[in-house]
Amino acid sequence: MSDVLILAIESSCDETAAAVVKNGRQVLSNIISSQIDIHTLYGGVVPEIASRKHIERINQVIEKALVDAGVTLSDIDAVAVTYGPGLVGALLVGVAEAKAIAFATGKRLIGVHHIEGHIAANLIEHKELEPPFFSLVVSGGHSHLVKVKDYGEFEIIGRTRDDAAGEAFDKVARAIGLGYPGGPKIDKVAKEGNPEAIEFPRASVGDSPYDFSFSGVKSAVLNYINGQKMKDAKINVPDVAASFQKAVTDVLVSHTIQAAKDYDMKTITMAGGVASNSALRQAMKTACAENGFKLYYPSPVYCTDNAVMIGVAAYYEYLKGVSDGWNLNAVPNLKL
Ligand code: KG4
Ligand code: ZN
Repeated sequence: MSDVLILAIESSCDETAAAVVKNGRQVLSNIISSQIDIHTLYGGVVPEIASRKHIERINQVIEKALVDAGVTLSDIDAVAVTYGPGLVGALLVGVAEAKAIAFATGKRLIGVHHIEGHIAANLIEHKELEPPFFSLVVSGGHSHLVKVKDYGEFEIIGRTRDDAAGEAFDKVARAIGLGYPGGPKIDKVAKEGNPEAIEFPRASVGDSPYDFSFSGVKSAVLNYINGQKMKDAKINVPDVAASFQKAVTDVLVSHTIQAAKDYDMKTITMAGGVASNSALRQAMKTACAENGFKLYYPSPVYCTDNAVMIGVAAYYEYLKGVSDGWNLNAVPNLKL
């Protein structure tokens, strides 16, 4: 088969991204225009601003992705785009752009699920990795334990009942004055703190050993901070960050290991922004070594939102003959 080149577009949240991916696993270009600076001013992502910035930047981002890859639109075999889940206005910018390019050039259009993209990010740097494998998907909007049965075939084994892991990191970071985005800031400051300093709860969900709940640990941190303020006592930010991070990562690791054992999976992968957390990587590495599991995770740049992962997931849809119609629409709460 001749080479397959996919132009991929990702605009589900606050990164405007485009990439060119060759044969599913080779990155020819990866352009990410982050809006973090703007949203930091508001303490979180403002959907209307995100949509507007995507519109302003998307053409340049795509053009740069093509130039960096050394290709033109006529070399491309398909245009892939994230169509959900995410912010509806933000998603619509990418979907409309992808449809316009595919229509104008007569190429195939492939809509990709954002979480499927995050999971596929593991395939970029680990050429030997193939399904079946297990995946812990932890991002700003999602916390899922997924059995990846084959390319594009998933079974959700566990999910969060309330906050996503990244959301808890972001909220706690705001409460301890670290600002947005909280995950990387907590990761950094926690290195100076004692993870055993404060005992925050490790919540499990009664009727499902694989589901997560992070609103309890988040509230416990907020209560602790308020308690300290009432007593006029000092808040040791590194200790709070390290103890909170330990409480979250303990649960993520123990649930993942338990589920992988119960489902008889030998390979574990991690995906999503929180998968770049250094304490989580270390703890998962240790647990996998102790239990005989193979562990994979992407480099940080492929953990957070990017278009390469969308191009990788789209490649396997391309091989199956998938081609979306011009009625492809943004689906903010798209299910996996
Ligand atoms: O996957 P992602 O870029 O976007 C979504 O699909 O949500 O994930 C963003 C989330 C944010 O909540 C951010 O705080 C978190 O990932 N994050 C981290 C780290 N880097 C990003 N959380 C913990 N430690 C990190 N190093
Ligand atoms: Zn994401």
